[in-house]
Amino acid sequence: MRALGTQVAIVGAGPSGLLLAHLLALQGIESIVLERQSREHVEQRVRAGLLEQGTVDLLRAAGVAGRLDREGLVHEGFALRFDGAEHRVDFTELTGWTTTMYGQQEVVKDLIRAREAAGGHVHFGVDDAVPGSVDTDAPRVRCTLGGERVEIACDFVAGCDGFHGVCRQVVPAGALTTYEHTYPFAWLGILTSLPPASEELIYAVHERGFALHSMRTPAISRLYLQVGPDEPLARWPDERIWTELRTRFALDGGAALKDGPILSRGVTAMRSFVVEPMQYGRLFLAGDAAHIVPPSAAKGLNLAVADIRVLAAALSAWYADGTRELLDGYSRACLASVWQGQEFSAWMTSLLHPFPGEDRYAANLRRARLRDLVTSRAAATAFAESYVGLARPRLG
Ligand code: FAD
Ligand code: PHB
Repeated sequence: MRALGTQVAIVGAGPSGLLLAHLLALQGIESIVLERQSREHVEQRVRAGLLEQGTVDLLRAAGVAGRLDREGLVHEGFALRFDGAEHRVDFTELTGWTTTMYGQQEVVKDLIRAREAAGGHVHFGVDDAVPGSVDTDAPRVRCTLGGERVEIACDFVAGCDGFHGVCRQVVPAGALTTYEHTYPFAWLGILTSLPPASEELIYAVHERGFALHSMRTPAISRLYLQVGPDEPLARWPDERIWTELRTRFALDGGAALKDGPILSRGVTAMRSFVVEPMQYGRLFLAGDAAHIVPPSAAKGLNLAVADIRVLAAALSAWYADGTRELLDGYSRACLASVWQGQEFSAWMTSLLHPFPGEDRYAANLRRARLRDLVTSRAAATAFAESYVGLARPRLG
């Protein structure tokens, strides 16, 4: 077995792992990133698309927002449709903050290019990485690189390997507490080569289920439909998808949604998950490896970036002068934001979705909350602060 060494071994080249590698490199800290999938796979994977202003600011400060600044679509509000009428929530007027639509896979492409340009080590197609000795001062990761077995000695392991990753599994049972909730519905998401029907996002609450009109570029729209929890895609031919979208977005007297070619489609489960603490010895979990939210409030990617901001600062302090305080407090520092994101995502999920089997009483409570949101400035401001991510920095 060949021996390699680095300062931080990072498992996973999603947004969390790549951003951590980049921020560490800016501080002169070396890392090796190990990714199970191919580069093409991670660069094409369609996922999140809404970046909070704090996320954009961090990417800009890190020097990786050139294309994001040119191509990202800056938003100041969204439309909320219910009972056949449309209402606008002007979150920028309420908070001063904007959001930016820019595909997660574009962030990933930009970060991979930045690592490449800096001569960083990102290995794709590594499907057997296993961290070990993370409860000692000499952790390591074993894997196969280019057909050869290697052992990477390191100071720290960053578990940025998503919900199904390996890092959480190496922590002994009993050292972590998990919290989980599964919703009785899912989102069917499509990407279509159709210019967005509106410049802003449209959230539509309908008795047949929720629908969202989003976008990735001026030529590509992203649409979502609430569907059953284990919905087979085979039951959703194009015509059924468009008919359902048209029904749920219908406005009294409004134009019907146009349909177009579907470029890709997938079903995303609606699940919440948190693990505490987010660290064990010299292993630090970040992003989806430690917590996931249902996509309703678009918080997953933004919470992952928030973890990485804390972890990069903590590792930088350790390498700068040997201080452990920030590393020791990593989990505590992240979890307040994590639970705030959980709460808002759960709240927005229950605001937008009819729950299967719910009674008319529950449906009317949801309607009352929706009306509050579009008639009370106080309610809209509290909502907008969470939506744009302004509520997070307040936690300190
Ligand atoms: P990931 O992006 O999951 O990255 C983890 C990486 O680790 C992956 O590249 C994976 O291949 C790799 N990996 C896994 N196991 C191993 C291993 N054993 N060894 C090496 N590498 C490994 N959020 C939104 O805000 N809006 C959305 O619409 C939305 N849609 C989503 C759709 C899907 C199908 C999923 C799964 C998530 C979605 N999310 C969405 C959530 C958002 O995309 C995530 O929060 C975000 O990707 C978190 O980034 P991450 O880097 O922590 O994890
Ligand atoms: C998306 O474009 O993927 C998206 C946007 C806003 C949301 C959820 C998902 O609330």
